[in-house]
Amino acid sequence: EPLPVTQPDGALPLTVAHRGYSSVAPENTLAAVEAGIRAGSEYVEIDAQTTADGVPVVMHDNTVDRTTDGTGDISKLTADHVTGLDAGSWFSPAFAGQRVPTLGEVLDLVKGSGSTLLLEVKGPETRAETGGILAEVTERGMSEQVLLQSFDERVLRDARELAPEIPLGLLRGTLDADPLATARDLGVVAYNPSSAALLTRPGTVATLNDAGIAVMPYTIDDAGTWARLAEIGVDAVITNKAGEHFGWRQRA
Ligand code: G3P
Ligand code: CA
Repeated sequence: EPLPVTQPDGALPLTVAHRGYSSVAPENTLAAVEAGIRAGSEYVEIDAQTTADGVPVVMHDNTVDRTTDGTGDISKLTADHVTGLDAGSWFSPAFAGQRVPTLGEVLDLVKGSGSTLLLEVKGPETRAETGGILAEVTERGMSEQVLLQSFDERVLRDARELAPEIPLGLLRGTLDADPLATARDLGVVAYNPSSAALLTRPGTVATLNDAGIAVMPYTIDDAGTWARLAEIGVDAVITNKAGEHFGWRQRA
């Protein structure tokens, strides 16, 4: 069953494990995705981008430098090279042996789990690269278990044309003058701003929710901000501390 994106009035926000459960395992690895699923997160977020030879892989930065033992731009390295790097040791020796996963490996892990994949496409991707990412989803029959989000409007417009059955979310560092107009123009079902931006105009949540559009702010790692966001009625909260969220929910 696809997750209802907007939550009923009065419901507490769902949990999105940001880059996996990334406070306990190295971000954007299978270990982090697995930990997010096991913690019971309704969504697991990851970042996808494309190698020089056209394979979607899972990493946040445009270079492999920070989170692996290698160096260089992903867009200039082959998939064989990137997926052979150690993506765990920088975090802890206990995770040595974690590799950079392909998007396909992450989708296979999420498929059939209770979690939905919040798949961020890190621009700039060409239309063909966006198409390659969408194909990984559609060829697994996972259009109902994925919410694709991006800061890059071109990615969203391409995705809407290439795979209209996959729901979309818009990421924003600052609020639009008219968030609802922007969301409608792009055809997204979720509007996902930074939490600081959202809290400058909390009424944005009700305006979007009334139109059936979910609001899922990022990235919230403290109980106080979580409680404030729950109060203004956000639908989900993106966090590095997915497991701790459930304690926050119980106290609410
Ligand atoms: O999911 C939202 C959040 O991930 C956006 O920022 O830089 O962590 O990808 P970033
Ligand atoms: Ca992200």
